[in-house]
Amino acid sequence: MSDPTRPAQPRIIAVANQKGGVGKTTTAINLGAALAEEGFNVLLVDLDPQGNASTGLGVGVEERQYTTYDLLLEEVELKDVIRPTKTEGLWIAPATTDLSSADIEMMANEKRSFLLRDALRQRAIDSWEFDFILIDCPPSLSLLTVNAMVAADSVLVPLQSEFFALEGLSQLMLTVRQVRQTANPNLRIEGIVLTMFDIRNRLSQQVERDARETLGELVFRTIVPRNVRLSEAPSFAVPVLEYDSMSRGSLAYRALAQEMVYRKEPATT
Ligand SMILES: Nc1ncnc2c1ncn2[C@@H]1O[C@H](COP(=O)(O)OP(=O)(O)O)[C@@H](O)[C@H]1O
Ligand SMILES: [Mg+2]
Repeated sequence: MSDPTRPAQPRIIAVANQKGGVGKTTTAINLGAALAEEGFNVLLVDLDPQGNASTGLGVGVEERQYTTYDLLLEEVELKDVIRPTKTEGLWIAPATTDLSSADIEMMANEKRSFLLRDALRQRAIDSWEFDFILIDCPPSLSLLTVNAMVAADSVLVPLQSEFFALEGLSQLMLTVRQVRQTANPNLRIEGIVLTMFDIRNRLSQQVERDARETLGELVFRTIVPRNVRLSEAPSFAVPVLEYDSMSRGSLAYRALAQEMVYRKEPATT
């Protein structure tokens, strides 16, 4: 491909934050949809036993014959796990509650931290020509999240614009450093994206100031506002870009995709 923004290898991005309810799944779904809208081929890997990304993209439990659990622990191939979504260019490797026992079951495996990396390297996925693989992580720094970080090129961190938002971040960064030291020296921070931002709330503005002061360039210019359309879209089983294309949530995730793709040098540490 001559398009310079088109990665030669799929760019693998783990969407991670050990706090729940900060916008990981919303970001994975809608950033994925925005990239697909740009013409990229995107695979979303659902690595959360709650399977919210799978549900939010309309893959019902009965359609999840093979899941990321099978991928990690049953040697089922990625090509048999991947399902299309209603969004053109966006595929998903779904998850079910089976995945909740994966952490314990993986412990027995010598290659326990490398299971996802190896699964994503299967040659069979070449035929999909994925440009981006987004991994929706569970709300913990468990072995599942470590698997995502080992498999990934970078980590994208949604940060909810609320008090204490920055508190969990040092723990997350510590895990990133540990993964770098052991299994994946090239792991980068893709960036930190402020989510659920309320412009009328001084606290939101304070969190933004603090984040930009301490984290500088790592924080995306794009901010995702609190937008009810974003929370409604999953019950219609589509990304917000399809549910309400011109909503503020849609505009924000399109802007985030643009910023991520066209920014010259992705940020490091
Ligand atoms: N920017 C936003 N505006 C309004 N609601 C949001 C926004 N981002 C996420 N939500 C809602 O907040 C809840 C938690 O978001 P989710 O993406 O599931 O977080 P996580 O995956 O980190 O647990 C969900 O109900 C989601 O629909
Ligand atoms: Mg989630």
